[in-house]
Amino acid sequence: MSDTQEMVKQLVDAHGSERTNLMAILQGVVDQERYLSDEAITEIARQLDLSAAQVYGTASFYSFLDTVPRGKYVIRVCRTITCDMKGKRQIIKTLENLLKVNIGDTSADKKFTLLETNCLGWCHKGPVMLINDNAYTDLTPEKVKEIITDIKHHS
Ligand code: FES
Repeated sequence: MSDTQEMVKQLVDAHGSERTNLMAILQGVVDQERYLSDEAITEIARQLDLSAAQVYGTASFYSFLDTVPRGKYVIRVCRTITCDMKGKRQIIKTLENLLKVNIGDTSADKKFTLLETNCLGWCHKGPVMLINDNAYTDLTPEKVKEIITDIKHHS
């Protein structure tokens, strides 16, 4: 077994092989390898009994298809309609100003990557963003500033 196959197996053992665990497994792979290789996609599909296209589709829908190394903190802001109407544009602007990056980019110090993603399922608490595994809800520009300042102090 290759390292990638072994890693996928451990993640599947830890999370379970039901389809509902796909996101957790994808996240686990990206955490360890920093991106999602073709080999990892094929192996996840095999172990979860899905087609590679299904795995690829889910990964790209949630912007987990990183082919370049990302920052230490990957921020994913929900761009779907509810969060959009609740002010995600302002949230993105605030993050771009604070981190000095444009959406899709990684900061010069390699600490932060700023991405958009599709609906994360917290619409009633939008706008929402993920920072790595953690969800932050009911965002305002002030709240975003506090969260980022806090991370900068602790890293
Ligand atoms: Fe943003 Fe659903 S629309 S979490």
